[in-house]
Amino acid sequence: MANQLATSGILYLWLNLLIMNAHRMSVMGFIARWPGGRSTRSYDFKVQTTKIEKLCNTWDIVTINGMFPGPVIYAQEDDRVIVRVTNETPYNATIHWHGVRQRLSCWSDGPSYITQCPIQSGQTFTYEFTLVQQKGTLLWHAHVSWLRGTVYGAIVVYPKTGVPYPFIYPYEEHIILLGEFWLRDLVQLEQSVIASGGGPPPADAYTINGHPGPNYNCSTNDVYKIDVVPGKTYLLRLISASLNTEHFFAIANHKLTIVEADAEYTKPFTTDHVMLGPGQTLNVLVTANQPIAKYSMAMGPYMSARNVPFQTITSTAYFQYLGALPNSLSSPAPVPTFNDNLAVKTVMDGLRSLSGTPSVPKEIDQNLFITIGLNVQKCTSRNPQQNCQGLNGGVMAASMNNISFIKPNISLLEAYYRKINGYFTEDFPGAPFKFYDFVNGAPNNAPVDTNSLNGSRTYVLEYGTRVQLILQDTGTVTTENHPIHLHGFSFHVIGYGTGNYNPDTANFNLVDPPYLNTIGVPVGGWAAVRFLADNPGVWFMHCHLEIHLSWGLSVVFIVKNGQGPLQTLPHPPADLPRC
Ligand code: C2O
Repeated sequence: MANQLATSGILYLWLNLLIMNAHRMSVMGFIARWPGGRSTRSYDFKVQTTKIEKLCNTWDIVTINGMFPGPVIYAQEDDRVIVRVTNETPYNATIHWHGVRQRLSCWSDGPSYITQCPIQSGQTFTYEFTLVQQKGTLLWHAHVSWLRGTVYGAIVVYPKTGVPYPFIYPYEEHIILLGEFWLRDLVQLEQSVIASGGGPPPADAYTINGHPGPNYNCSTNDVYKIDVVPGKTYLLRLISASLNTEHFFAIANHKLTIVEADAEYTKPFTTDHVMLGPGQTLNVLVTANQPIAKYSMAMGPYMSARNVPFQTITSTAYFQYLGALPNSLSSPAPVPTFNDNLAVKTVMDGLRSLSGTPSVPKEIDQNLFITIGLNVQKCTSRNPQQNCQGLNGGVMAASMNNISFIKPNISLLEAYYRKINGYFTEDFPGAPFKFYDFVNGAPNNAPVDTNSLNGSRTYVLEYGTRVQLILQDTGTVTTENHPIHLHGFSFHVIGYGTGNYNPDTANFNLVDPPYLNTIGVPVGGWAAVRFLADNPGVWFMHCHLEIHLSWGLSVVFIVKNGQGPLQTLPHPPADLPRC
């Protein structure tokens, strides 16, 4: 009884704090209203070409409403979100709401040629979805060519009115978007990299909220800064919107306490640094409990692959105490070295869902084994110098179960829905064609034959299937940490390890596994995830390193309709773009 009273007392306090603090929720210059709940949030997104000054250049980038990073979508759990997207650029456009589970709204998911044709120049499409039982930090980004390199922004979903965070109420919240910047046209860049057969050039800069920071040329003042009050606790909503690199993040002399990953609460886990692959989000609490000074926040590369050139300059921002001399030097933040796999594992080991997860399927109906990795295709070009700049004079590719996914040139969802034949097949294999030493061997007969097959192969799931996926990294070209993202669902990450997956020795956590939408499959290792296929539609699963996506490291799951309207995908919206 006393205990109960104490709990409700704390709750009451929380509610008061919540109301008192609502006016302080200044995020990136926007003052967020605490939303009212189960309401509709409408946004107008204009895809535009915008001039910016960056890295000693005046440069044209694609933005939403001229903003870089783009506007924040604010909503509350169970809200309806409506975003009208008008394309005012010469490029094709789509927007994906990364991590939004899109219950019965697959048409609004956004990956080009998977759930929709791109929004062509001058056209408009309105995305509509409900944030069913979702709260936390997510991101939106373009899902066509490499446009998401500049077309990205945060999604902030607050709990329902009166529901507190399950952690100390922060004094302020800040969004931290990690990005990569190229002084190149990103659509042309993708085309030229693919045409070359080789790998992409490194980014010209890493950015924090669009700012490279003082380590880069002409960027002394192009730096992000948070002013902090000594003694207060801050909630940082960390989001990786990077294109081709995973990143460590740290703040000098300060601990980060992870309280949420991919918009699901976690048990608090305190660490010196975190690692985010593209598409991953983490909410961390930071308390300003150090001597008054200016501290740096840093973003440095995590590169687990061999022989891949990457940008080595860290991007920094400031975590500046009130009262610190503005020109004082900041102590550098100690991001781990680029190949510190152990630092990545330590953070992953700390991720546990907060409440335990009653919904993790204890039994499974389908057990799929999927290898993920790179390939080198034989050169067939008449002009190898130009088109076969991959390893050993070949053409770079990537695959799942040694099949490189080819996007159809119409919307796969439409082809499926309208039963139009000839654009995809339903024969993606549930296991590799051959089991071998995935980490140290090569798939085909000779160790030098690293070709993959090409195809638009999908895997069909009956409604309600309990699915287990074993994702196995291969060393065909190089082992590497791959951030594998599933659209339409979050999955329970019940296990992971290094080496080849072995069911006899694998340890599964069915009690409190983290519930994520993107899993960094360990370099030269495996991860096991489970989800319930209860959302009808066509769902992309792919590596969120954009170059790997371009090279075919993806697959499509088709989840069939179940019974009745609540298990059936509705008709397509009338304004669905045409190819
Ligand atoms: Cu964040 Cu298919 O993407």
